[in-house]
Parts: sequence; structure tokens; C-alpha cells
Amino acid sequence: MTPLCKQLGIEVPIIQAPMAGGITTPELVAAVSEAGGLGSFGLAYTQPEAMQRTAEAVRSRTRKPFGVNIFVCENAGAIEPSEQRGALDALAPYFDALGLKRPEAAKPPYAPDQNAQLEAIETMRPPVFTFHLGHAPADRIRGLREKGVKVGGSATCVAEARHLESLGVDFIIAQGAEAGGHRGTYLRDPYEAMTGTLAITRLVVRAVKVPVVAAGGIMDGAGIAAVLALGAQAAQLGTAFVPCTESGASAAHKAALIAAEDDTTLITEKFSGKPARGIVNRYMREMADAPHLPFPVQNSVTQPLRAAAAKAGNADLLSLWAGQAVPLARSSSAAELVAALCEETREALARLGQLRV
Ligand SMILES: Cc1cc2nc3c(=O)[nH]c(=O)nc-3n(C[C@H](O)[C@H](O)[C@H](O)COP(=O)(O)O)c2cc1C
Repeated sequence: MTPLCKQLGIEVPIIQAPMAGGITTPELVAAVSEAGGLGSFGLAYTQPEAMQRTAEAVRSRTRKPFGVNIFVCENAGAIEPSEQRGALDALAPYFDALGLKRPEAAKPPYAPDQNAQLEAIETMRPPVFTFHLGHAPADRIRGLREKGVKVGGSATCVAEARHLESLGVDFIIAQGAEAGGHRGTYLRDPYEAMTGTLAITRLVVRAVKVPVVAAGGIMDGAGIAAVLALGAQAAQLGTAFVPCTESGASAAHKAALIAAEDDTTLITEKFSGKPARGIVNRYMREMADAPHLPFPVQNSVTQPLRAAAAKAGNADLLSLWAGQAVPLARSSSAAELVAALCEETREALARLGQLRV
């Protein structure tokens, strides 16, 4: 139990990362919260009308606190169909391979309206709200906090953490380069903000006064104990929760994580248009030098491909988002995972307590 746990109303310093794209189901979020951690919803790709229903689905399963998360970032403006041609042509063979109609030029809006999503969150008043890939405006953060919502944001460098603190957030998620999926870099070139979890956690803890949550490559209690030692007040785990029974990840995605024996992850922009870490597969290898559209246009264009690959159990054409410690992934229910993580954290802390230095 840390001061942040008290602030968020949770019993153990474990946050199940919000993961947009259907992984974070009401069952997963509620199970983690019921187990004493903080379950969180990734709602970045969810339309505002559907966001409220999702919150109700969790509230019907647990009275414990939970979090919701969206992307607050600059999205690409309208792109002429002629300018999309090269990127669409590069995708065509994969659509053919799955028997799908070849992709057509995407038309705006390419993603849900972020202002409308923020308004939905104001109405929903979730216990915790976090934003990713950018920053929410200070007046929105203030408004949500006045409604009793605890607000956090992701930082991948000290400048971002200081900026978030100046905007008035309650806590900051320091996200290391090991992290699976998209990283929240917004003030720097993402490829120049590749500080690992150990370093970024410590740097951010020293740079800001608000509580820090560490994320990236944390898969077991030893990892949680390590970031607590660095001064983090909780750990946010994404990849570890993807294979859980209650997770909405495809069977092929779950199987790829469980089968991993080494870190074979790399960063690609070819699925969404923004850099994100996943297990290397045929699509990532072959598309490495192909043209792509900016975020979120590439994401919307590849959506049918990823959905069809998931349905067909084809891990070659699917985004297999995972962090660098993926070989530590295990199959279990979310409650079993949270219980195991707590036990391992206690063991790691006890082991360290016996060391004499
Ligand atoms: C499949 C997947 C999807 C993710 N989607 C989101 C998201 O929607 N919002 C967000 O803030 N973070 C997202 N993340 C990043 C997590 O918040 C967290 O930083 C990351 O999972 C930590 O690294 P780990 O995967 O090694 O635990 C995602 C991560 C994964 C693995």
C-alpha cells in the first residue's frame, strides 16, 4: 500500500494498463479491480456514445474503483486519396491473402472525436482517468478533478513529466522504452525518447512532486518490487494482462505471447502510423520499408486486415503488441494473476530486506 494506492482507493500497487482495441473487456477490468488493483479501460477507439455503456458494464460488476483512458493527441488532417495510393498499394497483397476487398482511401474522420470523448468522460465521472500520446488541456483536467476524478497522464521523458505536473495531474505514468504497444511520447521525436523503465522511473520520481507509476517490461512481482524501490508508487502492467482469460485479445495474440521465449519485439509504425512495440511477424518484417499513412489513418486502414487476421488465427498479419519482458507472460485468470503478483512482490521485498550492504 502506497500513498497513491490510498488516493486511488486501491489495495495493491498494481494497475492493469488500459489497452485500446478490445483487449480491456468489462470482465477483465472488473476482475482486476475486485482483486484489489486498478482495472482500466482503453477507450481510445471507442465512440463517445459507447463509452458510457462500457463504464456501466464495469459498475454492474464491481463497486471498486476503475480507470478509463483515451488518446489525447493531434490527429492527421484530411489526406487526398491520391496521396494515400502508395500506402494502400503496399497493403493490398495482405488484404488479398485474407480474401478481403482491397483497402480504399480512408475518409475523415479517421478516429473518434477527442473533445466529444472528453465530454463523455466528464459525464461518466470514472474514479480514474488517464490520457496517452499527448496531454489533456489544463481546464479539462481541473474540471474532472473538481468532479472527484483522479487524473493521470503518460510521460516518456522528464520534460513531458514536468509539463504534465504543470497541467495539474494527480499522478504521472513514467513509461519506459520496454513498454508494449504505443508509447506516450509527445514533446520529442519518439525514437529519441527511448529511455528504459529503470532510468525514466528514477528520473521522473526525482523531477516531479506528484506520485509516479512505472510502466514498461514489468511482468512479475520482482519487477514491481524493483520499481517500488525506484520510488514509483505503483506499477502499470499491459502485456502481463493480455493473455488473461477475461482479456478480449485474439487467441492468436495470446498464444504468441505465451509462446515467446526471448524478446523478439521491435517497434513498428506500419499498423497504426505511430511507433508501437510488438512481436516481430511477417507483416512487420515485410512492411519495414513500405510507405505508410500517419496516425490514425494507417490504423483505420489496417483495421479490417487486423480483424480478419485475428478471426483466422493468422499471427503473421496481426499486431502482436507486447513489451520486452514478454517471455514472462503466463496464462491465468486476472484474479489469479493479481494474487500471484502480490505474493511475488512480498517475496521480492522480503528477500531484499534480508540483504546486508
Ligand atoms: C496491447 C497493448 C495496448 C495498449 N494500449 C494502450 C492504450 O490504449 N492506452 C495507454 O495509455 N497505454 C496503452 N498501452 C501501453 C500500456 O499503458 C503500458 O505502458 C505498457 O503496456 C507497459 O509495458 P508492458 O506491456 O511491458 O507491461 C498498451 C499496451 C499494450 C501491450
